[in-house]
Amino acid sequence: MRVAVIGSGYVGLVTGACLARLGNSVTCVDNNPAKIEGLRRGRLPIYEPGLEELVQEGSDRGLLHFTTDLPAGIQNSQVVFIAVGTPSLPSGDPDLRYVEAVAREIGQHLDEQYRVIVNKSTVPIGSGDWVRMLILDGAAEAAKQRLSSLEAGPVEGSEGDPDKTTSRGGGVLTLEKARWVPQFDVVSNPEFLREGSAIHDTFNPDRIVVGSDSPRAIAILRELYEPILNRQGGLSGDPVPWVVTDLASAEMIKYAANAFLATKISFINEIANICERTGADVTQVAEGIGLDKRIGRAFLNAGLGWGGSCFPKDLAALIRTAADYGYEARLLRAAVEVNQEQRQRLVEKLQQVLKVLKGKTIGLLGLTFKPNTDDLRDAPSLALIEHLHKLGAKVKAYDPVVSASGMREGLSHVVVETDVLRLAEGCDALVLVTEWQEFQSLDYGHLASLMRRPLLIDARNCLDRQALRQTGMTVLGVGW
Ligand code: NAD
Ligand code: UGA
Repeated sequence: MRVAVIGSGYVGLVTGACLARLGNSVTCVDNNPAKIEGLRRGRLPIYEPGLEELVQEGSDRGLLHFTTDLPAGIQNSQVVFIAVGTPSLPSGDPDLRYVEAVAREIGQHLDEQYRVIVNKSTVPIGSGDWVRMLILDGAAEAAKQRLSSLEAGPVEGSEGDPDKTTSRGGGVLTLEKARWVPQFDVVSNPEFLREGSAIHDTFNPDRIVVGSDSPRAIAILRELYEPILNRQGGLSGDPVPWVVTDLASAEMIKYAANAFLATKISFINEIANICERTGADVTQVAEGIGLDKRIGRAFLNAGLGWGGSCFPKDLAALIRTAADYGYEARLLRAAVEVNQEQRQRLVEKLQQVLKVLKGKTIGLLGLTFKPNTDDLRDAPSLALIEHLHKLGAKVKAYDPVVSASGMREGLSHVVVETDVLRLAEGCDALVLVTEWQEFQSLDYGHLASLMRRPLLIDARNCLDRQALRQTGMTVLGVGW
């Protein structure tokens, strides 16, 4: 199938590369020329394990193309995915200007061919109908332009036929053509991939959700996803559930899933805080409750709380939507509050041991919001850096990807070190912020010898604390 994906970020690029692997001809569109130029040269704008190879493979097979030209991108495509960002505004509402711009532009460039427009961006409930309206608005604007060019007069070779003139592309335009209304359906197809395991998640989803009332659009998407649903093309395992809903429910499924997962993490963090006061160990508690099939072990890792480009903004958006419809989402508000306080608690833990933080040096192991990504959006590390900086501490950090890439965007009040030894030198405490695999095998005894004070807070509860204590480190965690 021929597919266009508008927006070549974490979601768009992964979706495009995976669909190309399954044999589709995919055009990835982005309005950032540097990004597209890099992708054409095989340079990825993001770090995501396995993606570089997949993009290369798609390009080599002639199935994956990159362009800044949206009209050209959608021209030959039967299915058009919208995968642009929907970041939070200060009000908590999602900023929909990128979706709006793309929807209008799509409308301006649709032709007679029927297309399925798929909303993969996370958008508030009701956005499917809004996108449909914007596409129609864009199409109406384009029709108006065509009509006015028709009124400008007949073209060479069409003398005597007042209903004909040249289109901007040079072809012959009839009044009928100028007035035609595009044939399309808007479908919601929320994305559930996680950064760091995005390719695995795309090929092995727990379900594929499609929200639409158009049997034609649903049938086309079913055909596109058939290899994933029925484990073809080298994919193994059980068939993937295909969930068809109305548009609004599909949009709500996305928000509800993220809200539930974020609340689950806040729940275990709250339990962790009670464990610390009562002498229980949250890691044992999580195992104990996680074995209950109704609860499940996933997303019960206590720590610094959730960050990233989606949980914070999606909870804020859902809370705002609820308020717009006269409902106060108290549980979700509490989940957000617990999450924000979790960072503050870490600072308090440092204060309990080090007392005054002014003039102390704190080293952060990890900066990204989770391992195996370069994404710093709403990373807990950023809140920690700000708290510590305000209290007069010097903050240093080492992160496997951020340090290696030299990226500094969005980072201030922190010295990014190029290796762990330089990080440890002179520190009053190390805080493990992101559970990168390489932090499992560090020589903590050696690090302790380089520090001013051998204190380590494992804020993700991911290290072997007994082994660590034998290295001479004082070890603290979260919830024990
Ligand atoms: P991103 O910021 O990484 O990528 C968005 C891309 O869209 C950027 O490259 C930007 O240049 C491009 N863009 C913006 N306006 C454009 C336009 N007019 N024309 C063409 N391209 C344009 O965002 P992302 O993380 O991939 O997220 C995209 C959407 O998917 C969001 O709504 C997000 O909530 C949702 N989502 C993200 C994830 C994730 O893990 N990142 C997972 C599930 C859902
Ligand atoms: C999350 C969801 O898991 C995806 O299904 C969804 O598609 C995506 O958001 C999205 O909408 O963008 P992602 O943010 O990439 O994916 O990463 P997660 O693995 O969910 O982690 C989110 C945050 O929660 C991280 O900061 C992580 O450290 C934290 N977390 C996760 C915990 O603190 N404890 C846990 O037990 C699990």
